[in-house]
Amino acid sequence: MDTSDPTIILPRKKGLPVLGLGTWKMSGPSCSETIKFALEIGYRHIDTAQTYGNEIDVGNGISEAEIVRDELFIATKLHTDNLSYKGVMNAAEYSVDRLQTEYLDLLYIHWPSGTYDPEDTLAGFADLRDDGVISHVGVSNFEQQQLDIALKECDAPIFANQIEMHPFLHQDSLRAHCESNDILVVAYSPIARGAIFDSPELEAISKKHGVTEAEVSLSWIQEKGAIPIPKASSENHIKKNIESFPITLSIEDINVIDSITHEERQVDPEFAPWNL
Ligand SMILES: NC(=O)c1ccc[n+]([C@@H]2O[C@H](COP(=O)([O-])OP(=O)(O)OC[C@H]3O[C@@H](n4cnc5c(N)ncnc54)[C@H](OP(=O)(O)O)[C@@H]3O)[C@@H](O)[C@H]2O)c1
Repeated sequence: MDTSDPTIILPRKKGLPVLGLGTWKMSGPSCSETIKFALEIGYRHIDTAQTYGNEIDVGNGISEAEIVRDELFIATKLHTDNLSYKGVMNAAEYSVDRLQTEYLDLLYIHWPSGTYDPEDTLAGFADLRDDGVISHVGVSNFEQQQLDIALKECDAPIFANQIEMHPFLHQDSLRAHCESNDILVVAYSPIARGAIFDSPELEAISKKHGVTEAEVSLSWIQEKGAIPIPKASSENHIKKNIESFPITLSIEDINVIDSITHEERQVDPEFAPWNL
């Protein structure tokens, strides 16, 4: 397949393709094959993390797909054990090596936890950006309070905050705060790990449009200005999520999802800032 000519070309926001591929729970040769397949059909934004233990497999898939480097947007996250200044500098280089790339487009602080120290950690991130090891500084699972501190401490712009977001977790005020500080919102668990398939509201909208609840959820997230990164390992899901993205939802459809009051977090560790 000629990968320089993908079937689908996604628009970008500040250079970031508006749909990404999550890779949590993928590993081994099947992970590499999945990444290669996704890149061949048009995905250009790949999301991984040191914690997932799959950076080498993701890197193999990227390398096998032979996409021009400039077209790719590779994002990873530093483990919370690696957030001292020295830890940041060393761990970023390890990720660069494992992902078989010369630089990372986006490096996130996975959680404001563990060895995270705003001054120290963010000094490391700003230096990595100055050195060209990373193009953008990202944070993940930051609430408004942690964002404000990071904005004050970091000499480089905060490019994105990766947070859980789907029809059962709207994140309205946090998204508004990100927007007012020119920080992109990247939406993780955008299919709520399958929970959206139990929603009568989403079922009705999906039937009306002749699509699945997954496509409705991804399109609603896009409508809110955020960038979903669904994880999909089956070729059918990978294709479905990009081919129909986004479907056009009516104002009525959007209002129905906006009115869902049932909240359900998929990722809720004790050390999360909202639990402290
Ligand atoms: N920053 C953080 O702390 C954090 C936390 C969690 C996740 N993340 C990132 O966000 C990514 C996505 O989140 P997630 O993995 O938690 O959950 P998710 O994307 O909401 O759900 C993944 C599940 O949905 C299925 N799926 C995908 N497309 C589908 C479709 N069109 N129809 C039906 N089912 C579909 C997948 O199945 P198959 O795999 O079988 O195709 C998989 O079982 C992660 O992979 C990771 O990269 C980040």
